[in-house]
This record gives sequence, C-alpha cells and structure tokens, in this order.
Amino acid sequence: PRCIWLSRHGESIYNVEKKIGGDSLLSERGLQYAKKLKEMIEENAPGEDLTVWTSTLKRTQQTAQYLNFKKLQWKALDELDAGVCDGMTYEEIEEVYPEDFKARDEDKYFYRYRGGESYRDVVIRLEPIIMELERRENILIITHQAVLRCIYAYFMNVPQEESPWMAIPLHTLIKLEPRAYGTKVTKMKANI
Ligand code: G3H
Repeated sequence: PRCIWLSRHGESIYNVEKKIGGDSLLSERGLQYAKKLKEMIEENAPGEDLTVWTSTLKRTQQTAQYLNFKKLQWKALDELDAGVCDGMTYEEIEEVYPEDFKARDEDKYFYRYRGGESYRDVVIRLEPIIMELERRENILIITHQAVLRCIYAYFMNVPQEESPWMAIPLHTLIKLEPRAYGTKVTKMKANI
C-alpha cells in the first residue's frame, strides 16, 4: 500500500539560537540526523525507490544530502514566512511587537506576520503539493515544522485550524499510510 514519509530538517544553527526563519545550515547534531535518516530509510523502506521532496532552503537539502534518490525542490515547501520577524527569537518578537505576539497567541491559525504569512496562507500554498501527493507513491518530504503540521493535519483528517498545534518533533521520521478508514501513523525517533 501507498505510504508517505515525512521529516523535519535536522537541527539548524537557528534552532540552536532559538531564532525563527532564516536560511541557516545544520548544527553538528542536525548533520548527525542527516546521516541517521539515511540508515532509518534503509532499515524501514528497504529497496524502495523513493523520491525526496525538499524546500528551497539549505537546511532541508543538507538533511537530504546522504539519501541516494531523485530529489525535487519545492518553493511551496518553504517554512512559514515570518516577515519582519524573520531571524528573531520569540522573546525579541514579544519585546519589539507585543501586540502582534498577543494577536498570534489568540488566533495562531489566521494571524499573518507583518510582511509574511499565516498558517492559513501555508495551507493554501500547499494545495498543489497535496494534489501531487494524492497521485504519487513513495515520496519522502523533508521540510519545516509549520509546513509539516499542515500536511500532517490534512492526512490525519484534523481540521486545518488545529494544524498550528500539531506536535511534529525534531529528529523523527514519520510514516503515513493512508487507508480507506483513516491514516495509519508510525513515528520513528532517531537515536542520536
Ligand atoms: O519558525 C517557524 C516554526 O516552525 C513555526 O513555529 O508556528 O509554533 O511559531 P510556530
């Protein structure tokens, strides 16, 4: 049966510095995950001919670097654009844009960053990705937290408004098997 593999990129320098957005490289630990991901795929999908979809950002491509499969970059898989808050920590955002910080907390799905995007915006730009996924087999998607939350909510049949709160941990490979009665999920935590 058809399955879809999902992973966040490995830990990035910005993750370590608690900054959002940007286009930073992986940390040492993130690179370890990239290596581990290759092993996990070999173990859990032996002999399968996957196609790897990444975003256009370096941290997803670095995470895919050891996987010996066909790769495709999608701009539509880039992280939620935090606009003027790109590159800031949540503490800095709360200090510089307190009203925005509060507004986002109150309506995280519809809140749109100044000059950036909301979760709703991400759900809309993911429509072509979802369409393509529905007609493809054996895709491994390596992308970002906000984007994966939306994709995960879609396949889990969770209302899109709840996507901002889906738990998508770092360094975890997720296997989705869509079935007539619902999607079977398997989560594999990397031992690093
Ligand atoms: O940098 C963006 C994060 O992946 C999204 O996290 O929507 O919970 O702030 P957040």
